[in-house]
This record gives sequence, structure tokens and C-alpha cells, in this order.
Amino acid sequence: MKKIYSKITGVHGYVPDYVLDNSELEALVETSDEWIITRTGIKERRLLKGEDQGTSVLGIEAVKGLLEKTNTDPGEIDLIICATCTPDMLFPSTANIVADAVGAVNSFSYDLQAACSGFLFGLITGSQFIESGTYKKVVVIGADKMSSIVDYTDRTTCIIFGDGGGAVLLEATDEPVGIVDSILRTDGSGVPFLHMKAGGSRRPATHQTIDASEHFIYQEGATVFKFAVKNMADVSVKIMDRNNLTPDDIAWLVPHQANMRIIDATAKRMGIGLEKVMNNISKYGNTTAGTIPLCLWDYESQLKKGDNIILAAFGGGFTWGATYLKWAYNGHD
Ligand code: UT7
Repeated sequence: MKKIYSKITGVHGYVPDYVLDNSELEALVETSDEWIITRTGIKERRLLKGEDQGTSVLGIEAVKGLLEKTNTDPGEIDLIICATCTPDMLFPSTANIVADAVGAVNSFSYDLQAACSGFLFGLITGSQFIESGTYKKVVVIGADKMSSIVDYTDRTTCIIFGDGGGAVLLEATDEPVGIVDSILRTDGSGVPFLHMKAGGSRRPATHQTIDASEHFIYQEGATVFKFAVKNMADVSVKIMDRNNLTPDDIAWLVPHQANMRIIDATAKRMGIGLEKVMNNISKYGNTTAGTIPLCLWDYESQLKKGDNIILAAFGGGFTWGATYLKWAYNGHD
């Protein structure tokens, strides 16, 4: 039997209109444009404003655009996976809400939670259904409304995060393109350094948890930074080595956009020049599961069929990973 490969046949993104720039943050907390740019590389982020606007809004817009540009009838979609740590509600899944809104009436759908590595985890999960021959069309979304869990009085986190999301369509092919290899990892001993204390089953919302500001991101930034630099670079180098890829073989590195210094360190360890590194952190900040599809969307027109691409992420959990894929189409067409 011929091997089935899972390839990305389209990508689309969505960011809300509202721009939160560094000068607005200077008015909210004790910080400076200069500090934020030097320490993170971020100039502005997008926020989803308005009542009853959840992460599904980001996913719906991304998927609608994706279906339109790939000429896909929503009824043909078999599965929608939404990677997010800011679901509209604890249940049902945000993917379910997106599926209903885009008219994916023949699909099933579910959410997947791996924080900033969520898109990679979702991509590999979705690919298994394609490679096994089970399904023909799978949509993978990475989207987060981080502003819903950011404390805008905490200068150590509010400068980093933004809202946004993207989606890819996965389809089957017998050509050797698409997902080639992947290394995905988790380490639960990282929980104390990056988490949200309340709102889950362990500490449901009470007046007390709200008064103690426990419904916001808690992060020990410097510790997370060290783990991120080491682990993201380690898996990226490992995936290069085991696929015999030299820096010259790689067309693009698509790193999670958490901090420009983490991106630089990863590229350096891989021996890759910054001209081959996708980067949009300055305009969107860290959109958690949204960063990688948003990068692919921004750079799509520069991608060529056969390009060797490494996707790499690190995030809360801890979760991290690297994926090697061969791009399947000319992005400017
Ligand atoms: O995406 C999921 C995973 N998350 C990450 O990968 C994030 C990883 N961490 C980071 O990106 C960085 O640790 C931060 C950007 C969060 C912080 O940068 P840092 O260089 O690690 O700063 P720091 O936490 O070591 O703090 C250095 C100083 C401190 O002051 P003192 O104690 O030296 O007087 C902070 O209070 O910078 C201070 N500081 C700030 N100053 C101005 C922290 N935040 C700010 C701020 N503006 N916004």
C-alpha cells in the first residue's frame, strides 16, 4: 500500500483590529517602550474587544478565510481541532462552536490544550488521521484570546501577550511532502512556573479567588525563559540531526513568538541566519497557540513547494516540540 502523507494545503489567520501599543501600556503600568522592545522585541499587540467575544471569534474568522481561499466546501471537512488555552467556555469545546459557525456539518471537533505548543500538538494529532487514511480533510486551529486572562496591572505579563489565531487545512497526498518528522514533549514539573491558579476544577471561581487575582496568567518569567531557550533549541537541533538537515537545507524556521531573544538563541543554536526566521512578534506579541499559524500566514507568499521548514515551540505545561515539514505549494500562486 502506498504511504499517505499529510500536507498543509492552505493557511489563514485573523487578528482583531484593536492595537495595544507600548505607549498605551506605559500609561497602565510602570514600563517603557524601550524596555519592552529590548527585552522582548514587541511593539504592539491586537486585542479582541467587546462583550461575548471569545476565542471562537478568532477561529471562525481564520477558518472562514481558509475555506474560501482553498475553495473548500465546509461540508467536506471531517475534523476540526482547535488548540487553545482560552476556550470560550470550559465546555463545550471552542472547536464545536467554530464548526457550527462555518457550516462544517459533517465534521466532529474538539479542543486540545498544550498552551503555546498547542498548534504543533494539534498539527501532529490531525496529521495522524490523514496519514492513517481515516480522513481526507482536517482543519487545525491555533487561537487564543490572551487578553481574557492577562492582568493589566502586572507589568511582567501584560506586555507580552496578545489575541489572534490561525488555521491550516490538512489533506492527503502520495507525494513525499508535508509533515515529515516531529518531536513533541511535556514536563509537568514546569507547572509552578507558568499557570493560572483558579477557574479550573481544583480552585473553582469564588469571591476569594477573584479578590486574590487568581484568574490571570502567573509566570516566573526568568525561569520560563531559561527552559524555553534550552528546550526549544534542543529539539530543533535534534530534529535537524536525525533528518540529516544542515542549516543550508532549511528554508525557514518558524518559532513560537514569545520573546525575540528566545527566537534569536534558537536560530543561533541551529546555525540559521535571521533572514530565514519567520518573525512577527513586534506587531502581534505572544498569541500563544496562534503564533505559528499567524507566522505561516504572514509569510505564505514567500513559501515555495519543497521548502524545508522547521516549526518550533515552547510553552506552559511545560510543553515543547519541533516539527519538520516540506512545504507543499507555491505560496504566491
Ligand atoms: O510563551 C510561553 C512561554 N513564555 C515565555 O517564553 C516567556 C519567557 N520569559 C520572558 O520572555 C522574559 O523572562 C520576560 C520578558 C517575561 C521578562 O524579561 P527578563 O529579561 O527575564 O526580566 P526579569 O523578569 O529578569 O526582570 C528584570 C527586571 C526586574 O527588575 P529588578 O528586579 O532587576 O529591579 C523586573 O522587575 O526588569 C523588571 N521588569 C520590568 N521593567 C520594566 C519586569 N517587567 C518589566 C517591564 N518594564 N514590563
